[in-house]
Amino acid sequence: MVSMTVTIKNADEQVKMRVAGRLAADVLDMIGDHVKAGVTTGELDTLCHRYITEDQGAIPAPLNYRGFPKSICTSVNHVVCHGIPGERTLKTGDAVNIDITVIKEGFHGDTSRMFFVGKAGIQAQRLAQVAFDSMWLGINELAPGKRLGDVGAAIQQHVEKQRFSVVREYCGHGIGRAFHEDPQVLHYGSYGAGLELKAGMTLTVEPMVNAGKPGVRLLPDGWTVVTKDHSLSAQWEHTILITDTGFEVLTLSAGDR
Ligand code: MF3
Ligand code: CO
Ligand code: CO
Repeated sequence: MVSMTVTIKNADEQVKMRVAGRLAADVLDMIGDHVKAGVTTGELDTLCHRYITEDQGAIPAPLNYRGFPKSICTSVNHVVCHGIPGERTLKTGDAVNIDITVIKEGFHGDTSRMFFVGKAGIQAQRLAQVAFDSMWLGINELAPGKRLGDVGAAIQQHVEKQRFSVVREYCGHGIGRAFHEDPQVLHYGSYGAGLELKAGMTLTVEPMVNAGKPGVRLLPDGWTVVTKDHSLSAQWEHTILITDTGFEVLTLSAGDR
C-alpha cells in the first residue's frame, strides 16, 4: 500500500455525509415502485436524474465521472456492476441492482440495492439474500480498532459457505469529498489483517457475489462488468461512518431510520 491518505471527517463533515447518505437512500426508496416489467433502464435513469437534480437539489455523481454517460448504474442479472442505463426493457424474473451516488454540499452518499421484476427465480432470490447478509456481516465488523481484513473475512466466509463466490476486481472504498477515496475495502481477506479503523472514517461496503465462479469480464463499452461464466451476480451497498463505539449506516432506507 503506497501512500494511503484516509480522511477523517470532523463533526461538520459528518453532518454533511449524513445528509448525502440520506438523499442517496431516498432515491432508491423512490425508484422501487418504477421497477416493473416493460420499463427500460434508461427510463429509470431519467426518473432518478430528475429526482436528484430537481427535488433534492443534488448532483448525480456518476454522470460524466471518468466518462460514465448516465446518472445511475443499472446492473441486470449477470451484470456484476457499472451497467449503463439504456434501451434494455426489464422483464418478469429479472434481478437488477440500482446503484445511486449523490453529491450534496460537496459530499458523496453511495448506496445500492437489488430489485426484482415480478417474482424472481429461487436462485436469484437466494443469491441476493446471501449478498445482503454478507454485506451486513461485513458492516457489523466496523468499529475503531477493528481492521479491514475483519470486514473482508466475514463477507468471504459467509459467501463461500453458501458455495457462491466473491468478486475480487472491484471493492468498497473510502468516500467523502471524493467519490472514491482511500482505503480500498476488499470483500475478502483475513481476520486481523489490513488497515486499522478509526472514528471519523467514512467508507462503503458493497460486496459483489456471483452464483458461479468469481471471474469477471469488462464489455467493450468500457464500463459494463459481467460474470465470465454468465452466472447471476448480486450486490448491495451502504455508506457507513465509523463512530467512537462502532458504526452508523448513513444510507438506510427511510423505513429503517
Ligand atoms: N457507485 C459505484 C460504486 O459503488 C461507482 C460507479 S462509477 C460509475 O463505487 F461511473 F460507473 F458510475
Ligand atoms: Co461505492
Ligand atoms: Co455505488
